[in-house]
Amino acid sequence: MKAFIHNIPKAELHIHIEGSLEPELMFELAAKNNIRLPFESVADLRRAYNFTDLQSFLDIYYQGAQVLLTEDDFYQMTRAYLQKAAEQNVRHTEIFFDPQTHTARGIKFETVLQGIHRALLDAGQQLGLSSNLIMCFLRHLSAEEGMKTLEQALPFKDCIAGVGLDSTELGHPPEKFKHVFDLARQNGFKTVAHAGEEGPPEYIWQALKSLKAERIDHGVRCVEDARLVEYLVKEQVPLTVCPLSNVKLRIFDNLRQHNFKQMLNLGLCVTINSDDPAYFGGYIEDNFRALHEVHGLDFQDIYKIARNAFKASFLTLAEKQKHLDELDEFVSDFARRQMQDSPHSA
Ligand code: ADE
Ligand code: ZN
Repeated sequence: MKAFIHNIPKAELHIHIEGSLEPELMFELAAKNNIRLPFESVADLRRAYNFTDLQSFLDIYYQGAQVLLTEDDFYQMTRAYLQKAAEQNVRHTEIFFDPQTHTARGIKFETVLQGIHRALLDAGQQLGLSSNLIMCFLRHLSAEEGMKTLEQALPFKDCIAGVGLDSTELGHPPEKFKHVFDLARQNGFKTVAHAGEEGPPEYIWQALKSLKAERIDHGVRCVEDARLVEYLVKEQVPLTVCPLSNVKLRIFDNLRQHNFKQMLNLGLCVTINSDDPAYFGGYIEDNFRALHEVHGLDFQDIYKIARNAFKASFLTLAEKQKHLDELDEFVSDFARRQMQDSPHSA
């Protein structure tokens, strides 16, 4: 099963690129850029990754992002994530970035975008890993600031597939950003939103109805509203679930309490993702493996989840089909080899 989880072709749909900044690279960039981190060492920093809720994580995450100054810094961070993703057989990834975290510190929008974009282009050519970029609005900031950020992005819309909504959820309902998302859709951007991570099911309804979000990021609290579950199942709205993140941020006390398997069994279109892998103790494969170990996800479950992710991506129909064909072939080959190795066990 370990080999199956490692080798199965995957798509990742919920990864914040700033959340992939490993402590070692953070220290390296801090030294290069003459920025003093309030931690003595990598070990000291890692010890601080002991979160009580979403906000306690965000405070450290925004602090960490301050070491990023130049286009090359953004390139290096993105390249490191893509390398890891490719090693874990991710074939396609849809990456969030938070421009406001950087423009608020005087970094140019273009610097952020070009560094990330160049790494994505290189990974396409060198690692065979395709990607889409999703620009997130920080929901703890105002809708007016969100609108300014969208305007900054318009000249670069060929490099950005969609927009999303992240940061502090409680007290910042999705409908606050209705006009920003309306304009984004008019400009051809796809739409997603974090909802139902810490916030109530009502925020998921708002993300769907006010923002017309095509996917919900997290969405684990949907199970508290039977009518919402019925809707999500009927429409097969993709939910980008991040199990290790949910445990680290105390949405669930431990992985055993996580409702992923329940969501899968309800017929929801769930996917598995890493969210902020440098902070939450694992990349996509670690998330798959942990759920397998604790909830007994079997071959069929994993196949289904991998299919869901390609189907839920913002690739074209033809590109999705190419990935689904590769996935089907991988699974049939694997089953054939299993039969050859132990013909009486099937
Ligand atoms: N930004 C980075 N990770 C996030 C998360 N899990 N929820 C909301 N905003 C985020
Ligand atoms: Zn997230």
